[in-house]
Formats: sequence, C-alpha cells, structure tokens
Amino acid sequence: MKYSGETLGYGQSSKEERMYIYSVVVDSEPELVLELGTMEGGGTTYAIAQGLTHNNHGKLHTFEIDDNYYSKAEPKFRNNEFVECYKKDFLDDISTREDNSVDMIMFDGVSMPEWSEELNRKVLLGCYRLLKNGGDLIIHDFGDVSEIRIDTSNSKVNTIQDYLEENYEFINRIMTTTGLYHFRKVGT
Ligand SMILES: C[S@@+](CC[C@H](N)C(=O)[O-])C[C@H]1O[C@@H](n2cnc3c(N)ncnc32)[C@H](O)[C@@H]1O
Repeated sequence: MKYSGETLGYGQSSKEERMYIYSVVVDSEPELVLELGTMEGGGTTYAIAQGLTHNNHGKLHTFEIDDNYYSKAEPKFRNNEFVECYKKDFLDDISTREDNSVDMIMFDGVSMPEWSEELNRKVLLGCYRLLKNGGDLIIHDFGDVSEIRIDTSNSKVNTIQDYLEENYEFINRIMTTTGLYHFRKVGT
C-alpha cells in the first residue's frame, strides 16, 4: 500500500503534514489512536487511516462535534476496519478513558476561536493522563495556541508551549501551515 500525502476530499492540512503523520503511525505502530477534531475526515484522519492500513493493525477513534462535518466524514470510513468515527464532544471522551491507555493522540481541534483557557487546560491535561509512556502527541495549528496561558497549578508553567516542553520530549515540527508539532510523553 502506498500513501503519498493525498486527501480524501477536503482536508485541512498540508501534504507534508499528512506524510509526517502517516510516517509516525507506520514507525510507532499504535494500537489505539485518538483524533480530536475530524472535520470532513479527508486530511489528518485519512493519513492516520492509511498508516493503520499499512500496519494492518490498530484502531483510530476520531471525534467531531459538528453534525454537518460528521455526516461528511462518517461515510468515508464506514467500511474501514481501522477507523471509528464518533459524533461526540471529545472532552466527554477524554474524561471517561483510563489512564495510560492510548498510544497516540492527534489534537486538531485547537484553533477554535471560542475555546477558553479552561478548555485547553482540560484537553492538554487529559491527553497527558491518557497517553502511555512513550506515546505520541501531535498538535496541529500549534501556532494559534502556543502562547495561550494554561493554569496547571505549576507556577513555572504559564503557556501551552511551556507546559508541553516541561512535560514532553519535543520530537519535530512541520511549518507548512500554522504548525504541526510532535511531542512524546516521557515519565510515568
Ligand atoms: C481544525 S479542524 C480539524 C481538521 C481535520 N483534522 C482535517 O485534517 O481536515 C477542527 C475540528 O474540531 C472540531 N471540534 C472543535 N471542538 C470540538 C469538540 N469539543 N469535540 C469534537 N470536535 C470538536 C470542529 O468542529 C472542527 O471540525
């Protein structure tokens, strides 16, 4: 199976970003991937799905809150054994999963203008809790949020970028849009 960064319909990401996401999936062979923000499913969702298809194992659970986007994404993956689309607020999902149970999280819902600092805090602390040690966190549209303050009750940490640098190993970044950043969870 060959993937060259193409989309499946509309996808809000660059070809380089999609190729990078695909390569992380192929290299790390995750069992469980969460995607926070499916939109129409043609971009990052498709890249992850192609990686899992290449591996021939693993599962992507992808979450979209908007009816219209979900109804465009869901049919694309209805017959794909590696992908499950959910019409659901990803915060609800994050809060109910077990600690250290996820291998990779693609966080692509961060640039919503209505997002509060509190929402960012909940998502980022939730991602840390869910990821296994060595798990991958990929954040799209990072440039839109990196300077947002996050209160984690740690006085040294005051922006999202500081928080991530403090708690994760920085792996890579692709700057063809507003930034795709790749971190790896270190610690327990
Ligand atoms: C930047 S777009 C995702 C782009 C997509 N991954 C792609 O590659 O084309 C962000 C999406 O997150 C969704 N979203 C925002 N907040 C959400 C939430 N709390 N739960 C689920 N989806 C959410 C938005 O409706 C939007 O479709």
